[in-house]
Amino acid sequence: MNGEITRRDFMKNASAAAAGLSLGGAVFSAKSYGRIRGANERVHFAVIGVRSRGAEHIKSLSVCDHAAVTHVCDVDRRYLDESAALVRERSGRVPVREKDIRDVLASKDVDAVTIATPEHWHAPMAIWAMQAGKHVFVEKPCSHNPAEGEMLIRAQQKTGMRVQMGNQQRSSVHTQEAIRKIRDGIIGRPYYGKAWYSNNRSGIGVGREVPVPEYLDWELWQGPAPRRPYRDNVHPYNWHWFRHWGTGETLNNGTHEVDLCLWALDVQYPKRVKSTGGRYHFDDDWEFYDTLVTGFEYDDRMITWEGKSCSPMPDHGRGRGVAIHGTGGTVILDRNGYEIYDEDNVKTFVYENPVRDETLGLGGGGPMTDAHFQNLIDSIRTGEALRSPIEEGNVSVTMLLLSNIAWKTGRTLNLDPETARIRDDGEAMKLWGREYEKGWEPVV
Ligand SMILES: NC(=O)c1ccc[n+]([C@@H]2O[C@H](COP(=O)([O-])OP(=O)(O)OC[C@H]3O[C@@H](n4cnc5c(N)ncnc54)[C@H](O)[C@@H]3O)[C@@H](O)[C@H]2O)c1
Repeated sequence: MNGEITRRDFMKNASAAAAGLSLGGAVFSAKSYGRIRGANERVHFAVIGVRSRGAEHIKSLSVCDHAAVTHVCDVDRRYLDESAALVRERSGRVPVREKDIRDVLASKDVDAVTIATPEHWHAPMAIWAMQAGKHVFVEKPCSHNPAEGEMLIRAQQKTGMRVQMGNQQRSSVHTQEAIRKIRDGIIGRPYYGKAWYSNNRSGIGVGREVPVPEYLDWELWQGPAPRRPYRDNVHPYNWHWFRHWGTGETLNNGTHEVDLCLWALDVQYPKRVKSTGGRYHFDDDWEFYDTLVTGFEYDDRMITWEGKSCSPMPDHGRGRGVAIHGTGGTVILDRNGYEIYDEDNVKTFVYENPVRDETLGLGGGGPMTDAHFQNLIDSIRTGEALRSPIEEGNVSVTMLLLSNIAWKTGRTLNLDPETARIRDDGEAMKLWGREYEKGWEPVV
């Protein structure tokens, strides 16, 4: 802690920003955008949440042009130490280490933050960061609930900061090429996008309440989420499977593939969402399904998402991917390449990436992530268009959060396709937002 700013000061400043007042004073005068002008200047990044995906952020930023990781931040001292060593190994630089993101945001030396924490923190941190004048790379899913997605977009519009979501396949060259071919009519009129993901995850057992380990700040880990006692099967990683902090496999991995279907079919929100599935494989604390099938219906096309957390059997020989079916054929696409089939199911084209991107690995690093970061850096420095600006990234996230709501309520959701809000179902709309720990509510 550098002691420059207390949480109280922070919230005061954040509210001032929310009210559209100038932040003015010493703490948040970060006009970092104006500072990054010279061709040789680097964008200074703080990586927040540095264990698995955050470590990949550090690796990617170390190979990007015009970038430097100047700060690392984590509430678990073990990972903070490891990440500082990783920055040093990759760049020769010794980063500033912080436990509390508010201390990072108070630093004028930071231009941008990357957020790879558990998901209950994503939107609140991204909103604070924007209000503090920082650009943002926020991991998918950008939010924990649909209301937070709306807040993120409002905050971005108010502050004008650059906000990229971590659905890195938007920066994959072969994917861009495949989508271009689909848009140009190679499979006629595309009308069905099928997205899938398969993994062989183990169970998480039944957790016990235990004392908080000395290396972890459980209060800061929880942040905006209402307080709960510490349990031994939540941190790290398994928070994904608890509704209080996570969003299940659907947001963990469906976000990537459903986003590709939206892109290929050139659609946004559907008019109807239906989900079916359950927790079949293990009997444990896991609160979501391990098997889920969701249908998103449009007037003249559809998308399906099938997530299998505990059965690694691939589809089309691929552990994750999409099939885009059209009136004149099909495209099969994943992170490692794509195939085109004509209307008689004859394969007419194959592309395979020379460098394979990880599919089942937890961190998901590789060339696509590198390119996705470079796009954000170029956007900050030169104004280049973002490949996954928050208002676009938020579409697949909101759809998949609605898939969770449809599953949880066991009901078909009819949507307003303009806003994605659920029509005529007050019970389901109760799940649009969340309860916050008092004093930690995000304010835009
Ligand atoms: N784009 C991708 O391909 C991809 C791949 C993997 C994970 N992810 C996303 O990245 C996020 C992180 O996933 P993970 O697997 O690395 O999780 P993890 O649990 O392994 O790591 C999260 C880290 O955040 C830290 N943390 C928690 N609260 C914090 C706080 N208030 N301030 C700072 N640090 C805090 C934890 O201590 C931990 O080190 C998830 O949202 C996940 O969906 C994206």
